Amino acid sequence: MTPHRHSLQKLILSLFTLFPWIVIAFPETSDNRCDCYLTNASSSNYFTTHKFFDFRSLSQYADVPGPIADPYDSSQALATSDYFLSDDWTEYWGVQSWNNSDSVDAGTAPILMVNSPNNIYIENNTDASPASDTFMTMRTLRLEDYQSASEFESISQAYHYASVRMYARTIGAPGAVTAMFTYKDSGDPTQLTHVQESDLEIRTMDPPNVVQYTNQPSYTSQGSDIPASTRNVSNPGHLDWTEWAVYRMDWNPSSTTWYVDGESVASIEFQTPRDPSMVIFNAWSDGGVWSGNMSVGNEAYLQVQWIELVYNSTGSAKTTDKRGEGESLERIERRAEASCVNVCSMDDTTKIGTPVLLQGGASGVLGYVRLFGTVGFWIPLLSMALLFW
Ligand SMILES: *[C@@H]1O[C@H](CO)[C@@H](O)[C@H](O)[C@H]1NC(C)=O
Ligand SMILES: *[C@@H]1O[C@H](CO)[C@@H](O)[C@H](O)[C@H]1NC(C)=O
Ligand SMILES: *[C@@H]1O[C@H](CO)[C@@H](O)[C@H](O)[C@H]1NC(C)=O
Ligand SMILES: *[C@@H]1O[C@H](CO)[C@@H](O)[C@H](O)[C@H]1NC(C)=O
Ligand SMILES: *[C@@H]1O[C@H](CO)[C@@H](O)[C@H](O)[C@H]1NC(C)=O
Ligand SMILES: *[C@@H]1O[C@H](CO)[C@@H](O)[C@H](O)[C@H]1NC(C)=O
Repeated sequence: MTPHRHSLQKLILSLFTLFPWIVIAFPETSDNRCDCYLTNASSSNYFTTHKFFDFRSLSQYADVPGPIADPYDSSQALATSDYFLSDDWTEYWGVQSWNNSDSVDAGTAPILMVNSPNNIYIENNTDASPASDTFMTMRTLRLEDYQSASEFESISQAYHYASVRMYARTIGAPGAVTAMFTYKDSGDPTQLTHVQESDLEIRTMDPPNVVQYTNQPSYTSQGSDIPASTRNVSNPGHLDWTEWAVYRMDWNPSSTTWYVDGESVASIEFQTPRDPSMVIFNAWSDGGVWSGNMSVGNEAYLQVQWIELVYNSTGSAKTTDKRGEGESLERIERRAEASCVNVCSMDDTTKIGTPVLLQGGASGVLGYVRLFGTVGFWIPLLSMALLFW
């Protein structure tokens, strides 16, 4: 390093000390330039893939469909708009039309529940000073003959650890559950643990500031609850779930941790899902003890401005494509780790959904970003100047 450069570095340092407002952020980048994503906070981890679903500016699709009285017709309803037929949506999510007719019984699930594509739609945001033009609504409503519900599931069942976030609120009548969860069913109903889940659930009959977080199954084969599997937690700052907030669930190998607006609210190690899973969102009720019984004519909604996921997949292209003959999975993973040159963040961005580059080794120039922490934005520019000094 020449004396010149050395003194320039000193100058840069003192500039940041003297003019801290110059400090902006890490440079924005795009997903195709990110080798991996590092999440923040206590459950921080690396993931290979990022997806962002933005429902905030879709007014060309906005339309609130009327209810469909007949349960069968509602399950057969068409998509509510072309958005839900677009590749952006259908490549990742499957809108459901299953029903609970084979489990309806007077005790645990007294009401016929039918999932309907008619209950998932884009709606104009008519809030006072709205934060978006539109959002996506998932509706559940109680009709004379049944409960109409909504659910979409990830097409992929290969999520293997993920940080899932939604900017959302739940509003409406008591007697519904809105949820964001991972789901894996081994298909052997004789095993209590045939289902593995990490759940975030809001029960509209609960006080409007408490949310339920659970690693399923939450009960034993004798039917008793397992306290270690679940938490009933107040939102930070008495924030109601009727207000917009970022709900985040970090499913990691040894625990699942949940955040509301960046604040850690629950973390459960017990029974953390082990196997590759799908990701599901829903709004439902079956009249049972857990969901409550919605009165006929009432409705409740999960409304979502955006969904963001950073995740790993088993058998994802990023690992298998490069698999050498006879190479073990661990070795591939080690190699993948070693090849994560451009480390990105979805947390340190000022523009939701757009990654920023935390660390990039290729040019060497961005190495300064690490050195100077959040002052990254100007460092590359000044470093470029340094190259021509
Ligand atoms: C939604 O908002 C857009 C833009 O303001 C408007 O053109 C459209 O008619 C609205 N749609 C509905 C269903 O209200
Ligand atoms: C409920 O699901 C069963 C099994 O798939 C199907 O036969 C039945 O038609 C469905 N009922 C309604 C109301 O959609
Ligand atoms: C959660 O706690 C609240 C009281 O803070 C209670 O009213 C509610 O029933 C509880 N929910 C569950 C699912 O236990
Ligand atoms: C992590 O990032 C989120 C934004 O995604 C932010 O709200 C939160 O405060 C950050 N947490 C920490 C510990 O930096
Ligand atoms: C649920 O509500 C309906 C009417 O809204 C009522 O007929 C029914 O008895 C209720 N069921 C339970 C289990 O409370
Ligand atoms: C995701 O995959 C990367 C690359 O294989 C690995 O370094 C990282 O630890 C994985 N993350 C989790 C949470 O398993």
